[in-house]
Amino acid sequence: PQHFALIPAAGVGARMGVHIPKQYMAVAGKPMLRHALDTFAAHARITRTFVVVSAGDAWIDELLTPELAQRTTVLRVGGATRQESVFNGLNEIRSMAGDADWVLVHDAARPGLNAELIDRLLDTLENDDVGGLLALPVVDTLKRESAGGRSQETVPRAGLWAAQTPQMFRYALLQRALRQAAEQGRIGAITDDASAIEMLGLRPRLVEGSPRNLKVTLAQDAALAEFFLKG
Ligand code: CTP
Ligand code: MG
Repeated sequence: PQHFALIPAAGVGARMGVHIPKQYMAVAGKPMLRHALDTFAAHARITRTFVVVSAGDAWIDELLTPELAQRTTVLRVGGATRQESVFNGLNEIRSMAGDADWVLVHDAARPGLNAELIDRLLDTLENDDVGGLLALPVVDTLKRESAGGRSQETVPRAGLWAAQTPQMFRYALLQRALRQAAEQGRIGAITDDASAIEMLGLRPRLVEGSPRNLKVTLAQDAALAEFFLKG
């Protein structure tokens, strides 16, 4: 089977509080989205990368070098949520992707992905029946809040993982999972691709990710991403 990368990049980056969508903000010398596109384009086991942007996106054409454009397809079908953007993108690539081909869905806001992490994901999941995702064991002591901003209890962190991306599933399974979640009106409850798979009763494999693969969500995260990219 082939491996396709699908990058949802149609968000506005509201929590970042900057004037352009955060995926176009420069981190360590180039826009965050460029880091992800370059990493996939340079990877021999990735057949092609698809990037989903909003219909009116004014930045993507400028971002794609001629070299990058050869291995990347822009889909202007961004939706109102991440999951809609992913689902729309999947539907667009229907004529290229076979049911058994793998799709690696990766956030545009994770510039720290590297070839080693992609290889680890591919090597671990190649023969897996379900697929899986990069994730990291939670290291914090977790508190459940009660009314009034007080800590009611400590939630045991054993067995808890923080999800990262890429999340890698076979084309047909991921499309079915997202369609079903949408039909059941549960799309709002889904913040990653693996949760749609879980709703089918399947159990995605957790593959150890890396701190360098953090998602840039708040303004201070950009400095941390830069630290990892420069180190
Ligand atoms: N995304 C998308 N379509 C949307 C919303 C998000 O393709 N309608 C993408 C973002 O561009 C990002 C990834 O999904 O690459 C993860 O989402 P998130 O970190 O939440 O980014 P934003 O939604 O842009 O940020 P915010 O929630 O702060 O507005
Ligand atoms: Mg968001």
